[in-house]
Amino acid sequence: MKKQAWVSVLSILILVLACAGFGQAFEKIKFAVISDPHISLPEQKGITDGYKLGLKTVMLTENAVAEINKIPDLRFVLVAGDLTNDAEPWNIDVLRRILDSLKVPYFVVLGNHDLSLVPHEKKDQPMSLSKYTVAGAFIGRSGGMVPGMTYYAQEVAKDLVLVSFDTSRAQVFVPEANLNDFGGKMDPGQLRWLESVIKKYQKKTVMILTHHSLVPWGEGDKTNHNYWGWFRLDNSDEVRALLKKYGVRLVFSGHRHISTRYQKVDDIYHVVHPALSTYPMRYTVYEMTPQELSWEVKNVPAPAEVWELAKKNFLANKWWRGPEHTETPEGDQKYLEFYEGTEMKGKIAYK
Ligand SMILES: [Fe+2]
Ligand SMILES: [Fe+2]
Repeated sequence: MKKQAWVSVLSILILVLACAGFGQAFEKIKFAVISDPHISLPEQKGITDGYKLGLKTVMLTENAVAEINKIPDLRFVLVAGDLTNDAEPWNIDVLRRILDSLKVPYFVVLGNHDLSLVPHEKKDQPMSLSKYTVAGAFIGRSGGMVPGMTYYAQEVAKDLVLVSFDTSRAQVFVPEANLNDFGGKMDPGQLRWLESVIKKYQKKTVMILTHHSLVPWGEGDKTNHNYWGWFRLDNSDEVRALLKKYGVRLVFSGHRHISTRYQKVDDIYHVVHPALSTYPMRYTVYEMTPQELSWEVKNVPAPAEVWELAKKNFLANKWWRGPEHTETPEGDQKYLEFYEGTEMKGKIAYK
């Protein structure tokens, strides 16, 4: 074959491989993370605007989605759990409608409020669905949840794998806490599944989406103030060790209702996300390469009176205050700083 013919064959081959995306990992992708929408239809008895703005949850989630839909070149949206008030079918229907209006695929993880409420004498409780039914409602056009499962792994971009956990325990009332158990643990079956998945995708970039964090975020989380140890998985050490073993570097969580921040523990970057439904109602927009992650935190657009109400109810709350967040001007300042965070932007070189 003549030299020109070889050059032509080679050119065609290169073109075909390029079109097929052969060997090319994702370069730079943009995605958004929303968390804790806690959708609560206002028609339901007992839904109020307290620390959680129950009556505003639909509006806040719709407004966040409308803003996210304006972002050019967005690839997908992650929803970090506590999708509903307590797994009520009407709230699942509404959230599914709102999320389906996203222009890009979205991927959810279940939170402690997205599973059956175990009835108890003290509380008049509405109907709630099993976590399998909630998960099944989010088997969508983008994949993610699969039938019969409450956790999944999916390649969301070339060589970028999203691994979504199911970390919640049964919603059993705990009298001494005067609360339903909001803690979490990864069961042995899921641990075995996790190991098989992260082993399989070891050469790709793996990002974890989990409702409960794998690290504590404040002093109270460490000392179990108000049962705040339940913000973290009971066996988080075991899960972190597994992630470390297979070189996983990124963990995204919700549940804590504090503004976006990160910490590095054992080479793993843990990033926590604010709630849409509680002060300071925010979401996060990321840009990611196989080496770097940068982000910007945005306020959810809402009328000024909603922001005023959210902050007033936030300051009036006692339970969400840590031991250092005393009801004094100094304590209020620390309380605000912990939940608002200090940075609206961030960047890390994770690999
Ligand atoms: Fe939550
Ligand atoms: Fe939660």
